[in-house]
Amino acid sequence: MKTVHGGLDAAELRELGLRPEQVIDFSSNINPLGTSERVRQAAAHADLSAYPDRDCLALREALSERLGVGIDHLLVGNGSTELIHLLARALLREGTTVLILGPTFGEYEAAGRLASADLQRITARESDGFSWRLESAERVIKQVRPNLVFLCNPNNPTGLYLNGEQVEQIHAAIGPEGVLVLDDAYVSFSDEPWDSIRLLQADNVAILRSMTKDHALAGIRLGYLAANPTLIVDVSRFQPAWSVNSIALAAGLAALEDQAHIDAARVVVQTSKAYLYEQLSDMGLGFTRSAANFLIVKVGDAREVRAGLLRRGVVVRDCSSFGMPEHIRVAVRRREECEQLIGALRQVLER
Ligand SMILES: Cc1ncc(COP(=O)(O)O)c(C=O)c1O
Repeated sequence: MKTVHGGLDAAELRELGLRPEQVIDFSSNINPLGTSERVRQAAAHADLSAYPDRDCLALREALSERLGVGIDHLLVGNGSTELIHLLARALLREGTTVLILGPTFGEYEAAGRLASADLQRITARESDGFSWRLESAERVIKQVRPNLVFLCNPNNPTGLYLNGEQVEQIHAAIGPEGVLVLDDAYVSFSDEPWDSIRLLQADNVAILRSMTKDHALAGIRLGYLAANPTLIVDVSRFQPAWSVNSIALAAGLAALEDQAHIDAARVVVQTSKAYLYEQLSDMGLGFTRSAANFLIVKVGDAREVRAGLLRRGVVVRDCSSFGMPEHIRVAVRRREECEQLIGALRQVLER
């Protein structure tokens, strides 16, 4: 079965007689300002006739300088999703165990299943505000002794953001035989980001970042993995040649020069999130105080509410596939777009 994701569904829109430009996408959590002009220009000038650099050397050099790690600690991928699957292929097989802290991004489970690993879960409860109970998580990890642990921070969809000490607590429980994969996909938009790169001092930590999210490159996809050089070599053996295309490489290089675009987006996320909190409170709806650029809202029948919103030109993520059929997840977009979301939600819920 295919993993469920946000984003527009062409067949569904066609059935409803809607064109993609007639709907606002609150179901994928990318930079609310879209792709910057600088990145667009760089992408437009990529040489389409030549094969891309298989080693992504220039981009790895730029990332190395930015992050303060050697280029042998870096692997670039066709989105971080490719890297999640490569990690699973390199580290898991029948008889191994993958542990997932959920509810969370569906590709971890998909990758673990494809690698025939045994799947274990630690699931946060709604009654705990979707926070994990770390002491009991520690106990489970020590008991299960997983080979791979996926931790999304801030977590999709709950918006929970663990601090450095809490992540280190999980890491310590894993022990030297297992690898902690910390998925930082949304860290650029989090309220008070902390630098996870320091965790690379340990050989069994791998950090995933998504430039797709940071710079709104969902149409071309770009992500990277930072880890110890041995793990990088192990993982890269499974990557097909030329996986990262020339447009993505050119866009990625320009994106790293455009921190201002992320900074501007952070301001938009902060102000729009405050607006959404205020409106959702006024409507009497339950929602999470999310550290990220999305939040979950308790609406009752999420599938029905999503359908009602779609008819009004707004797409949100129905959280049923996360095991949360009463919640929708909405991305934090520009204020005027959030006003349209709230208007549509008020109509659908009659509040
Ligand atoms: C937590 C998380 N990680 C990774 C990804 C994948 O992003 P990409 O493959 O585009 O880099 C997503 C996308 O939704 C995500 O939510």
